Amino acid sequence: MTTDPVDTEIPVTPLSVPGSRYPTGWFQVAWSDDIKPGGIKQVSYFGTKIVLWRGNSGELFASDPYCLHLGGNLAVNGEVSGDEIVCPWHHWHWNGEGRNTLIPYSKQTCKPNLKLRTWHLREWNGIVLLWHDVGRCEPTWEPPVYEGLGTDDYFPFTEDRRYQSRIVAHPQMIVENGADPAHVMYIHGGGEMPEYDNITVDGPLWSADVMIAYGAGKESTWLTPDGGMQVKVGFRNYGLGLGGTLWPKEFMSAVMLMCNTPVDETHTDQFFCITGKKSSPEETEAPRRLVRFFQHQKHTNEQDYFTWEHMKVVGRPNLAPEEALPLASLRRWAWQFYPHLEQPAPRVPSSNGTDGAGHDGTNGAAALGTPAKEQASL
Ligand code: FES
Ligand SMILES: [Fe+2]
Repeated sequence: MTTDPVDTEIPVTPLSVPGSRYPTGWFQVAWSDDIKPGGIKQVSYFGTKIVLWRGNSGELFASDPYCLHLGGNLAVNGEVSGDEIVCPWHHWHWNGEGRNTLIPYSKQTCKPNLKLRTWHLREWNGIVLLWHDVGRCEPTWEPPVYEGLGTDDYFPFTEDRRYQSRIVAHPQMIVENGADPAHVMYIHGGGEMPEYDNITVDGPLWSADVMIAYGAGKESTWLTPDGGMQVKVGFRNYGLGLGGTLWPKEFMSAVMLMCNTPVDETHTDQFFCITGKKSSPEETEAPRRLVRFFQHQKHTNEQDYFTWEHMKVVGRPNLAPEEALPLASLRRWAWQFYPHLEQPAPRVPSSNGTDGAGHDGTNGAAALGTPAKEQASL
């Protein structure tokens, strides 16, 4: 049985982050089919427990799990009635807005002023997303729409092509991994360093087109039977919780959704799932190549784990010119998801027309805009 880290004493590690370091945005907390109509699931994220329940109407709700009567846990032997959740202890009812709607044995009927904390949810391609903001503000953006996903154009995200792992890492470390070209050669065995193009920042979106060499220097691999090829892969991050990776049709027409959700000050749940485009709407079974590609990506993800588990976050890293542009741009973009922390100083363009991200081969730290007092953490 997996031990829930929220229930245990967490050792302080160099990766520890205070609560204010939980970023703002949409984060995966479950798969939609984990919670059927009438179902209840308790999860632990952002250092707290959350109860999810699906009403008989099909709508999904999330609230604090502790009943405001005497503190019973709604998720443990609670029940769903209509769209409400019923506490197992004395059967008080709570609706999706967190309001008490019924005290079944009292002439008072209910205490409508009582309110549990509730959370905004979205169901996105079979993924349950929860909006997190330490200031408890309303969502300021919506998850992206991927044309065709969720229709007959693509295979569904079935259980054999999705994955969840609880790891020691801050979500930003995982996202930064996608902007770190050099490690691809040393951790993942890539024959060449990927090249980043079209790096774009647009509100919560950070995106890049990345040229990746598959099968470099090899006559034939299962992925590249006709020899090595350069593939332009789309990297899309929507906040620090949602990522999409898009491979082109000449390679595979595959889509990977990667979601990273902080569990507590040390752990993150990494979720990902992969699908591909069907050759026709009638096609029901994913091709062997796609299933194998999922296993390949799972293995690739796991290769990174030891780096995050044992690292110390360097607020002012020393970057080589070849890696400074994607990494520095991603770190600057990421600051917006910590609105309650001191923000970095505006970027000062360099005299050589670049973004000043260390292209001169010197320390690119200034370009990262890390406030001095934040140097020891992310
Ligand atoms: S503790 Fe929940 S109804 Fe009493
Ligand atoms: Fe990696």
